[in-house]
Amino acid sequence: MATPENKLAFDDGWQYSPAPESTDHVRIKKKYDLFIGGDFVKPEKGRYFDTINPATEEVISRVALAADADVDKAVKAARKAYPGWSRMKAAERGKYIYRIARILQERSREFAAIESLDGGKPIRESRDVDVPLAAAHFFYYAGWADKLEYAFPGRNVKPLGVAGQIIPWNFPLLMAAWKIAPALACGNTVVIKPAETTPLTAMKLAEVIADAGLPPGVVNIITGAGETGAAIVNHPGVDKIAFTGSTSVGRIIQKALAGTRKHYTLELGGKAANIIFADAAIDQAVEGIVNGIFFNQGHVCCAGSRLFVQESVADRVIQKLKDRMETLIVGDPLDKNTDIGAINSQEQLATIRSYLKVGQDEGGEMFQSSCRIPKKGYWCRPTIFTGVSQSNRVVQEEIFGPVLAIQTFRTYNEAISKANNTPYGLSGGIWTDKGSKIFKMTQSVRAGVVWANTFNKFDPTSPFGGYKESGVGREGGLHGLDAYLKLEA
Ligand code: NAI
Ligand code: MG
Repeated sequence: MATPENKLAFDDGWQYSPAPESTDHVRIKKKYDLFIGGDFVKPEKGRYFDTINPATEEVISRVALAADADVDKAVKAARKAYPGWSRMKAAERGKYIYRIARILQERSREFAAIESLDGGKPIRESRDVDVPLAAAHFFYYAGWADKLEYAFPGRNVKPLGVAGQIIPWNFPLLMAAWKIAPALACGNTVVIKPAETTPLTAMKLAEVIADAGLPPGVVNIITGAGETGAAIVNHPGVDKIAFTGSTSVGRIIQKALAGTRKHYTLELGGKAANIIFADAAIDQAVEGIVNGIFFNQGHVCCAGSRLFVQESVADRVIQKLKDRMETLIVGDPLDKNTDIGAINSQEQLATIRSYLKVGQDEGGEMFQSSCRIPKKGYWCRPTIFTGVSQSNRVVQEEIFGPVLAIQTFRTYNEAISKANNTPYGLSGGIWTDKGSKIFKMTQSVRAGVVWANTFNKFDPTSPFGGYKESGVGREGGLHGLDAYLKLEA
């Protein structure tokens, strides 16, 4: 189900090695301290929290809970490292980033298994998408480190200083790479916090960063929940905040930063329209719908969570979709045949379930595949709603689960106006045989990314980010450098 093109594009060879569902090669410590100033240090208050495997509900490891004093220590370490790192010869800086990329590749099997254990996503996705793409981001931005003057000709480029970065649980390692790689390439130092349900690949990345020999304090990785994140946002020694997560937390952060000199980028929620025209290759479009909403259990900000099908083909598309849903395997994330893994946390499962109820109460018709699901752990069968309208909450709000809201349309203009009728503007998809429709749509749908005859494809060269309540700024590509630089005339 996951993206075969990505597999080809980022094939690093190892998927042909022995079955990754064996976890013999995985080393997880019983307890993780904070990575500050190049060392693993105990949290000031001595507090730790559990991280669990959402597929089994078992505790995998304990992770330090950083308090204000720890955040302060991390920011000071980053400040101390900043003059040396920002003044280092840019080509040298690039070498360190290349080294991170290479070590990640070497340890990719272990990273993939830990990502699936800690977060619940299918091993096929962590193996073929998350980990190779994370390495690709480090490779890509390593290449930019000594070419910044060429990226912005005629401008004087300077790093911002210390970047505070807060990331979510849906693509833990990949989001760390999205944030750390451009920050380092531009000469900034970093304090980053992974999400509380998925801290383990970030702590593994700390090991990689130490092994790559980065000067102490250039990257600091601290763990904790919302309070720790807020302490990073509010710390006066931070020059830039990069956040990916919910729109509600994004709002809190934007308010906290108003009137300060801090720079920020916010990558928030989405409710993408995936639009299927009657002239589309229908079987491919059905695969695209499946990938659009069921990839990573639908825990995807750019998921194709609203489907618009042209009326003349709607019955056929929906029937094919239901048939295809019945073939999807929900279960053990470490099994390479699994299509849909575990829901990331009990809280997220409760959120999704509440939307299933809301959707039915609003009069929507719910269909779920009849697959078996394991007794323990957090699971949700692939789900679609038909008979819903624009005003329904399951059409308007981000559910962040394997739940698709389906509507039909007659004309091109109707499809566009429905697609744009949302507070979000992150991504969109179009399926058609006509190039002209594709170009017209990319002009008229207000979304940062529009995929044509494909969905959920990512590449480090391509900027990503939203309009409206989906956020501020862009990450990836040349635009991603802009977010970590002061550009002077
Ligand atoms: P969240 O926005 O609370 O969590 C994201 C990150 O922000 C985590 O690292 C968290 O510890 C941190 N955080 C929480 N409160 C903070 C604060 N006041 N200041 C600074 N950092 C803070 O998201 P949550 O509660 O885990 O998920 C709720 C919903 O958010 C999901 O159902 C989904 O709709 C959306 N979401 C969107 C994501 C995206 O990629 N756009 C990613 C994760 C969640
Ligand atoms: Mg976990």
